[in-house]
Amino acid sequence: MADVAVVGAGLIGLGVAYELAKRDVAVTVFDRDEPARAASWAGAGMLAPFSEELPDAAMLALCRESLAMYPVFVEDVRERSGVDARLRRDGTLHIALDDARLADLAVHAEMYRRNGGEVTMLGRGDVLAREPLLAKDLAGAVFVANEAQVDNRRLGRALLAACESLGVRFKRVADIALDCDARRVRGLRTQHGFTPVGTVVNAAGAWAGELDGVPDDVRIPVRPVAGEMLAIALPRKAMRALVWLGHRYLVPRDDGRLLVGATAVERDFDARVTTAGLHDLLDAALAVAPALAGFAVVETWAGLRPGTPDGRPYLGATALEGYVVAAGHFRNGILLAPITARLIADLVVDGRDAALGPFAATRTAAGPRSMVANEIA
Ligand code: GLY
Repeated sequence: MADVAVVGAGLIGLGVAYELAKRDVAVTVFDRDEPARAASWAGAGMLAPFSEELPDAAMLALCRESLAMYPVFVEDVRERSGVDARLRRDGTLHIALDDARLADLAVHAEMYRRNGGEVTMLGRGDVLAREPLLAKDLAGAVFVANEAQVDNRRLGRALLAACESLGVRFKRVADIALDCDARRVRGLRTQHGFTPVGTVVNAAGAWAGELDGVPDDVRIPVRPVAGEMLAIALPRKAMRALVWLGHRYLVPRDDGRLLVGATAVERDFDARVTTAGLHDLLDAALAVAPALAGFAVVETWAGLRPGTPDGRPYLGATALEGYVVAAGHFRNGILLAPITARLIADLVVDGRDAALGPFAATRTAAGPRSMVANEIA
């Protein structure tokens, strides 16, 4: 019998299962889909806590700590799985196409610096020397050196194999419901029957607020926010840095694909790729790099981010004994996978919850917004 059941086999659920299994906990992961699909597969893998302009200082600190864990995390998972998730630390370029935007970017650059970003302002010549495919008439850029990317699809495969090597079991089920009495968790119910288990970790991403059987008073308010994306086939190494233009971004992968993302649309659990979404993405991509016009679009897809009212995830115990949540990571689930895994394992194995305060599952829906990280002075 499992000591712990994890609901959701995305990068958060896999990371939690992996960390628990390393600490000799027997874990079973339940999902309706294949492991590491949904947002974990759809994301761009940006590890960009400064560029993301996070909602507050607690969230910034959590994201920075998780970024710092990434090299060891990826290497550890690679050693156990044989799959390299391709962590790349090439930094982020925020492009200004005109002088007004460059002045605006300079203000944002100050904020990134205050938040811990290693920031440089670059003129047109320097930008084009680094990234020759970008618009020849751009005005300049802000470069954030200490941001990175990981290939999230590879990381999903790596974590799955690493979990399997540690004996984590996976169950693909059509229906999942929590079973509890008034005080505590009793187990999970699926179409195959009842699985008794003392601890259930809800890591169901955008679906975390929908888990059947969860009493209303411990249900977390997570909502889906769709992100549409596309990929363009480029010669390998034609671009290196993450490139942002406003809210859109380009992410060059080692295999030559250039990911272009992402829209942010709230339309329930609808993960279609729309013509308007593609138009929006291509508009931004061609504005920042007109040279992309001659290359092929090789893939389009969409995923559902798990949004929360205050922009922070819900991490930790609830008022229902044995029911733990690790969900609502919104735009930063891939970045936050290592720290989430560690904090949830600390809680489940050792009862330690010291770091979870600002992210407590028991906070009110609106949550505190005291220490503002993205305030522009
Ligand atoms: N992390 C980028 C996005 O969610 O679009």
